[in-house]
Amino acid sequence: MTLLVVATGNPGKLREMQAYLADSGWELTLKPPELDVEETGETFAANACLKASQVAIATGNWAIADDSGLEVDALNGAPGVYSARYGSSDADRIARLLRELGNNNHRGAQFVCAAAIARPDGTIALQANGVCRGEILNAPRGNGGFGYDPVFYVPEQNFTFAEMTPEVKRSVSHRGKAFANLLQQLPHIEM
Ligand code: IMP
Repeated sequence: MTLLVVATGNPGKLREMQAYLADSGWELTLKPPELDVEETGETFAANACLKASQVAIATGNWAIADDSGLEVDALNGAPGVYSARYGSSDADRIARLLRELGNNNHRGAQFVCAAAIARPDGTIALQANGVCRGEILNAPRGNGGFGYDPVFYVPEQNFTFAEMTPEVKRSVSHRGKAFANLLQQLPHIEM
């Protein structure tokens, strides 16, 4: 099995990627903790490529990275690549989002995820994207998930991300779609 270094320090993300890539023929492992890549890109795809590429070069192995966030239509796509840096806690970030949207009736939004796999020399072998459309509620609903989940409502499911089971969230989410797309491309990867 070929080793694939996951460009994250988050063991939760490693578990999630393991679930997506089970039976794919790759052995996933976390990046060394001292290896930190700054997310300086202006798009999710740029950040995913940057992280995968730098971790691949530093470790001499194949590497995988993803970058994701929330784009709100009425805020011209904010918080976007700054989703994680929009406040100091999940509660803070949600409060800021609801404050900035105020009573605006136009509440359309989307979660976006970009994933990339880099070869040991840092070149990008594969990229995939996933988008999930929804609406920002006026107040949080549900206890599951993380981040902006309690205010992100998906009309087709009639639930917020925080009200869905992890299985349902995986099947409709931006990350689930990006990884489904990545899995389809994986057998055709140029080694
Ligand atoms: P990253 O992809 O780990 O850099 O995450 C970026 C940020 O986007 C997270 O810290 C969350 O605030 C937000 N985010 C990304 N995906 C989700 C999701 O599925 N639910 C809620 N928030 C998310």
